[in-house]
Amino acid sequence: MTADAATRSQLADPPPAVADLRAIQALAAADMAAVDALIRRRLASDVVLVNQIGEHIVAAGGKRLRPMLAVLAARALGCEGTDHHQLAAIIEFIHTATLLHDDVVDESDLRRGRRTANALWGNAPSVLVGDFLYSRSFQLMVELQRPEVMQVLADTTNAIAEGEVLQLLHVRNPDIDEAAYLTVIERKTAVLFAAATRLGALLADADAATQQALHDYGLQLGFAFQIADDVLDYTADAGALGKNLGDDLAEGKATLPLIHAIAHADKAGTGRIRSAIVEGDIQALPAIVHAIRSSGGIDYAAAKAREYAHRAQVALHAIAPSPWRDALHGLAHYAVDRDH
Ligand code: IPE
Ligand code: IPE
Ligand code: MG
Ligand code: MG
Repeated sequence: MTADAATRSQLADPPPAVADLRAIQALAAADMAAVDALIRRRLASDVVLVNQIGEHIVAAGGKRLRPMLAVLAARALGCEGTDHHQLAAIIEFIHTATLLHDDVVDESDLRRGRRTANALWGNAPSVLVGDFLYSRSFQLMVELQRPEVMQVLADTTNAIAEGEVLQLLHVRNPDIDEAAYLTVIERKTAVLFAAATRLGALLADADAATQQALHDYGLQLGFAFQIADDVLDYTADAGALGKNLGDDLAEGKATLPLIHAIAHADKAGTGRIRSAIVEGDIQALPAIVHAIRSSGGIDYAAAKAREYAHRAQVALHAIAPSPWRDALHGLAHYAVDRDH
């Protein structure tokens, strides 16, 4: 086992009943095929560049984790019909819009194993097609004719925007602490996971307490997912990740592994990390990775991710057992035990 594989396996709890990602995907396959068809159909525009950029990022795939969560939550609570497909497509459109915007903000050039839209077409088309996808999601929302869905997603997209701006305010700040980091990731990432699972429950006409339990599951899972992502930014194989390693450092973004390392490394290590954040110095990456590892930053962040994943699993106790619930349980495990 390589050192990085060892790190990844440390991210994992013992596997739950339906832990295997393939089994989870098989369970959701029919729903996800319908969601995918809907996404492709509703991506269309008569403006050629919108189609080109939209297809470029959507056809690259991505894990489709958020729409799968919406589908599984809905099914776990007995949802029939097709409204949950529409919800899943909405969630993925919102997610994809944030990725187009995020890659401009982060000046990233690799996403889903492909050159980013901003690298290929430039910033302006990326931002504008991101806006197209955002507003397309609003059109799909209106069609659902459920004001509660509009309410939750209006609040969610607003919080995501705040999260990205908050993060921007902390760029090149080596003094950001864990609490501030958690506030950023709650808004930029966790709230969308929470909306996906809460609204799945809502479309299944679950009662308020059950909706809240599914919200809690999604929120904790979102924290776990983003912390694991921030670990992967230092430990993954770039080919498997489909994104560049060290992007966070290059952007001057202090994530949890770094925040912990700054507080616990020796004086030289702390100085090196702080100046790398201020400079956004990617040349320093190997030395920084070494300092993060040796001060326990990777292990600490990986353990935190596992803790949040466990909290997500506990929230599921509120609903009746089913293969769908098992799949949600398994996805919490997967969120922190993945290579991309
Ligand atoms: C990327 O999300 C953004 C983060 C919150 C880390 P994903 O890792 O789910 O991206 P795709 O959709 O699979 O590409
Ligand atoms: C992803 O954030 C964008 C949002 C969650 C809105 P990051 O910048 O941390 O994720 P990657 O590494 O680019 O996927
Ligand atoms: Mg980014
Ligand atoms: Mg990242």
